[in-house]
Amino acid sequence: MDRAKAEEILHRYMKGENYLQHSRTVEVIMRGVARELAPEEEEYWGIVGLLHDLDEEHCAWKEHPETHGPTSVEILKKEGIDDPVLFDAICAHNPASGVRASTPLQYAILASDPMSGFLKAVAQVYPDKKIASVKHKSVIKRFNESRFAAGANRLYMEAIEDAGLDFDEFIDIALEQMRDIADEIGL
Ligand SMILES: [Fe+2]
Repeated sequence: MDRAKAEEILHRYMKGENYLQHSRTVEVIMRGVARELAPEEEEYWGIVGLLHDLDEEHCAWKEHPETHGPTSVEILKKEGIDDPVLFDAICAHNPASGVRASTPLQYAILASDPMSGFLKAVAQVYPDKKIASVKHKSVIKRFNESRFAAGANRLYMEAIEDAGLDFDEFIDIALEQMRDIADEIGL
């Protein structure tokens, strides 16, 4: 599946603007991480990011968290996609699915998902609410305040080190990638 196909499927199953912006954000973070860890797979890692929440509007993830991920796999199969690496990576971003991250790609999606929301939350405490204003130092400060953006799982974000990337470098990559698409994601 190429990116155009992934985007077409995404837009068919996801309508919410916030979800679409989130998907796009995780895509660019994954591409940035891939440039460091698996440069020849940049587009593929991006697709994992783009599609990781494909089932968001199609499963009862609040009541049944174990369905978030497997439902995306069902949708993709219905669309004629047969890609176990993609399927496992999508499920691994939600450990409640039963798939535990164990490869660099899986650790990367586990970490990139909460990082996207966390950096957005940090941007929103700045007067101009711009991602361009966010400093590395304040990301670290907020990271250590457990009550700040408490929904962003710190352990998952740190799992980037299991993928082979330094956590500080991960922050800088994610910030840079989000700055590049700031207009598109309303930051
Ligand atoms: Fe997500």
